[in-house]
Amino acid sequence: MTDRPVEGLRPLRVCVVGASGKLGRYMVEHALARGYEVVGVCRPQSVGKLAGFADRITVVPGATNDPSVIAQAVTGCDGVLTVLAPWGVHGYATGTAQAVLDHAPPEARLVFSCGWHITRDGADVYTRRLRVFIAVAGRLARWLRLVDLDDQVEACRRVFASDRRWTVVRGSDLEEGDSQGLPVWSRHVGDPVLASNRTRRVDFALFMVEALTDDSLVHEAPAIVGCQTPSALAHGAARP
Ligand SMILES: NC(=O)c1ccc[n+]([C@@H]2O[C@H](COP(=O)([O-])OP(=O)(O)OC[C@H]3O[C@@H](n4cnc5c(N)ncnc54)[C@H](OP(=O)(O)O)[C@@H]3O)[C@@H](O)[C@H]2O)c1
Repeated sequence: MTDRPVEGLRPLRVCVVGASGKLGRYMVEHALARGYEVVGVCRPQSVGKLAGFADRITVVPGATNDPSVIAQAVTGCDGVLTVLAPWGVHGYATGTAQAVLDHAPPEARLVFSCGWHITRDGADVYTRRLRVFIAVAGRLARWLRLVDLDDQVEACRRVFASDRRWTVVRGSDLEEGDSQGLPVWSRHVGDPVLASNRTRRVDFALFMVEALTDDSLVHEAPAIVGCQTPSALAHGAARP
């Protein structure tokens, strides 16, 4: 997929699924800055959070795991940026991923967000701190019926198993702040380049949007870290 617009070509049409969240709104900003046409999907009660983009994007209100909502929103799209949010205990992230996989146009670039805890090939190496945090926080959140981390695991398993043109971007711990530039990445958590475990949310969004036009990321699950973090600076350029 080339980075349009080029004279004579229509601009890329991109759908942001989960557009009203923090990551989603940054992705909308980056996509608009590139001249893309943007369609945003968000829950009806969150439409107001997109007021700042009024008249510049098309908003499709609805649950992101509703196949009919997604089918409408992704029509004619060249790319789909999906925030996988494991909210509740009813398979919301899985339903969202499946709806995108089922309804996005065949050649569309599909880019999904998740966290470092997702592993594609089991070769990621996690710190004891992260393993304990996932075990404790994950169980507590599920017990409270707030979040089900296994839902995001299942969502990503389905993406990994699909023959669509997907990328799964695995975010480190996030922070707010001005952009520092495109994060660096590695195939595996545990690589020294990722040790700082910190990325600006605005740059996580930048990586997602850049992935739309980077075919080298098709069928990759990059784990990212801020390009100005100590580990990124110490260990050099983007991996692998
Ligand atoms: N937070 C972190 O430290 C962190 C670290 C690594 C990776 N990530 C990944 O980054 C992505 C974005 O995470 P974020 O923390 O920055 O959150 P976010 O961008 O604010 O996104 C949260 C999303 O979940 C939706 N949501 C919130 N409550 C919901 C509910 N009860 N039912 C259904 N949907 C609900 C929001 O929609 P509304 O606008 O409608 O509420 C929004 O689309 C996720 O894929 C996450 O796994 C996050």
